[in-house]
Amino acid sequence: STDPLVVFTPSGKRGRFPVGTPVLTAARQLGVDLDSVCGGRGICSKCQITPSYGEFSKHGVTVAEDALSEWNSVEQRYDDKRGLKAGRRLGCQATVQRDVVIDVPAESQVHRQVVRKAASTRAVEMDPATRLYFVEVDEPDMHEPTGDFERLARALRREWDIPAITADLSLMSKLQPVLRKGKWQVTVALNKGHAGDTPRVIEIWPGLHEAGLYGLAIDLGSTTVAAHLTDLDTGAVIASSGIMNPQIRFGEDLMSRVSYAMMNPGGDKEMTRAVREAINTLAEEIAKEADISADLIVETVIVCNPVMHHLLLGIDPVELGQAPFALATSESITLNAREMDITAINDRARIYILPCIAGHVGADAAAVALAEQPGASDDLVLIIDVGTNAEILLGDKGGVLACSSPTGPAFEGAQISSGQRAAPGAIEAIRIDPVTKEPRFRVIGSDLWSDEEGFDEAIGASGITGICGSGIIEAVAELRMAGLMDENGLMGSAEATGTPRMVPEGRTHSYLVHDSTDEGGPRITVTQGDIRAIQLAKSALYAGARLLMDERGVDKVDRVVLAGAFGAHISNLHAMVLGMIPDAHLSKVTSAGNAAGTGARIALCSLKARAEIEQMVRRIHKVETAIEPKFQEHFVAANAIPHKTETFPELAK
Ligand code: FES
Repeated sequence: STDPLVVFTPSGKRGRFPVGTPVLTAARQLGVDLDSVCGGRGICSKCQITPSYGEFSKHGVTVAEDALSEWNSVEQRYDDKRGLKAGRRLGCQATVQRDVVIDVPAESQVHRQVVRKAASTRAVEMDPATRLYFVEVDEPDMHEPTGDFERLARALRREWDIPAITADLSLMSKLQPVLRKGKWQVTVALNKGHAGDTPRVIEIWPGLHEAGLYGLAIDLGSTTVAAHLTDLDTGAVIASSGIMNPQIRFGEDLMSRVSYAMMNPGGDKEMTRAVREAINTLAEEIAKEADISADLIVETVIVCNPVMHHLLLGIDPVELGQAPFALATSESITLNAREMDITAINDRARIYILPCIAGHVGADAAAVALAEQPGASDDLVLIIDVGTNAEILLGDKGGVLACSSPTGPAFEGAQISSGQRAAPGAIEAIRIDPVTKEPRFRVIGSDLWSDEEGFDEAIGASGITGICGSGIIEAVAELRMAGLMDENGLMGSAEATGTPRMVPEGRTHSYLVHDSTDEGGPRITVTQGDIRAIQLAKSALYAGARLLMDERGVDKVDRVVLAGAFGAHISNLHAMVLGMIPDAHLSKVTSAGNAAGTGARIALCSLKARAEIEQMVRRIHKVETAIEPKFQEHFVAANAIPHKTETFPELAK
């Protein structure tokens, strides 16, 4: 045929089209990923493309100046109103005239890659469950007896090939006024749900909706709840916020909450209410911070451990308190936010909860697996997600094992005398001079060390408030390296250690990090009790990792990934000196930040990722720490710092 040849980059897809074919039409026919919300009406600007002109031969195509039609009045109007970047055209307006090469810039691709901050984390293609569609609905008349919703469905079928839609009753009460206000032109937010589900109308706006769509990725931990507000168009995180889990007042760790539910009739319901309220508060705060209407939050993805999972859903967690630790359901769950009393987001917002693996290995471990993909690794990787309950995964292409270990909340700064959540004002890094025994430290919110000039100004009026998880880990490791503490975790007196930093506290000694009581500030110490809490936590962590290594039949791993809701990335050296993690070359220990939260964000941005994790959890083999006698053995041996029997040859180097 002599029709012009059209080549799209970066996909390389090509085909011949008659003169006058709109670029958007050509893209659709070739399956090129070119976005459009308005369906080619020249108003949404999502379909922008960059034709290449003036190059003699590109991709085997000779491109002439007039390969596309001239700017038309729609583009002119759009440019006057909003401005079109140099070289850009609207794909729905530009038509093919001759052979042409057309680039689809990243922001015009629906399935663009979301660039992730952490280097170790996978890149993900945008494939959100909820997307916007602009349609023109037929007006009703006396000869046309169908309802407004049926005509909306017909318009979506005609313009967007969406065979059928459904909606909650609450949408029907908005439908008629919105259709009329928009003069029969409306934008709908449609949630595709799982494969095979009928797409569901979440929201409807008159005319073209331009204020975007947002989702919340929530990492619901036993101690803290963290949320990331994510733009569902770009995948970008707009705002992040966190609060303490209010269930703490019913018990610090999971098992004490399960016992609370067992001992107090209605106790599970109290905890359910508390956590749902916390999510509402968090959603409200984050929408306010980002300055968006809460109605624009149309989706939420939640990851959590099995006890949090059951309490969130209003299921009594009693079965999780005893072997064989049966979950009510381990499959992923999709439901309406309203069913869970989440009212601070859109009325018809959908909630997706990742699948659990089994027993005490929950959706948080699944989220870590989704973010870090141990099953795709060539070498044997140990992934430790540190929290009040640690999620531990060990695996490679040959298979993945997972367990959950009850570390307690010490690593999150709870149960620590001067401990606090990772937030501005918290000491996150600390060094103790081995000769003078004097400390210097860094506080979240500033890059300066406490002995550097400008430190006081940099931390501002709020000052130093406490010490967070990564700070306490470093403090304990530094105390050991500075010779202020023996391998059993016992700290010496001022006389024995030769430093006035060691202060008596009852029958034990504490290390004084910072004292601003003169200015009405806090006195921050590391007490013997703090060290005990860290020892218990790190022993549980180490024992869990060892258990998986036993199961796999190895006594060494190729690499270690440390993840968790720490303020800063945790220091590999300190983690190893403390004996939190098995021996590995320091260069093979990396941080992944909050991997469970990242997994939640990935699931929020991608339906494909949801399908992937639903498949993946079936292949992950769970090891139950609570009934393994070896766990106790490993736990006791790991109490010493770094360890009673095991050596750390890589550390010695
Ligand atoms: Fe909306 Fe082109 S598709 S402007």
